[in-house]
Amino acid sequence: MTVFICKIYEQSIEIQEVQTVSEQEVTLLIENEEKMQAFGLSLGKLLLKGDVVCLTGDLGAGKTTLTKSIALGLGIDEYVTSPSYTIVNEYEGRLPLYHFDVYRINDVEEMYELGYEEYFFGSGVCVIEWAGMVEDLLPENRIWLEIYQGEQFTERKIIIKSDEETMKRLEAII
Ligand SMILES: Nc1ncnc2c1ncn2[C@@H]1O[C@H](COP(=O)(O)OP(=O)(O)O)[C@@H](O)[C@H]1O
Ligand SMILES: [Mg+2]
Repeated sequence: MTVFICKIYEQSIEIQEVQTVSEQEVTLLIENEEKMQAFGLSLGKLLLKGDVVCLTGDLGAGKTTLTKSIALGLGIDEYVTSPSYTIVNEYEGRLPLYHFDVYRINDVEEMYELGYEEYFFGSGVCVIEWAGMVEDLLPENRIWLEIYQGEQFTERKIIIKSDEETMKRLEAII
């Protein structure tokens, strides 16, 4: 098992890589919440305008926890909460962050009413919780993160899928 270093500020946090399935898919084993936060922070720091980060995983998987760290990495000091009732929350950082939680949408029509294209194809960064529910609306190039409960209580497995170019950018932290 290869050990990769996830760089956060001065600290280095080790994240174990379970498998490199292909150049477009990597699986990470995250031991605890602190390491999840380190990963999110590092990810937030390397995001570029137009990036769409798609999060999937059951309730309690850690989607919101990860989003909070991504926001920190984007230089957002505002308190980030789950936008369950509003679908999308906006924050100003190094880049604008549009944090979606689409769990409660009943129909994709609601996404059209929201003007989702302005966000998904805009010049900020989108993080979408429950992204699988709006998969058809997503841009082709996206950072797809599947979070699974691990064997231990605080352990999570993250499957990262993206295009080759984006994966190269992500290699700096995974
Ligand atoms: N490794 C981990 N990564 C993320 N969250 C973790 C981890 N271990 C324990 N947790 C806990 O799991 C819960 C995740 O909740 P949350 O981020 O709201 O999940 P989701 O948004 O996917 O429903 C939090 O209570 C968090 O403290
Ligand atoms: Mg959530």
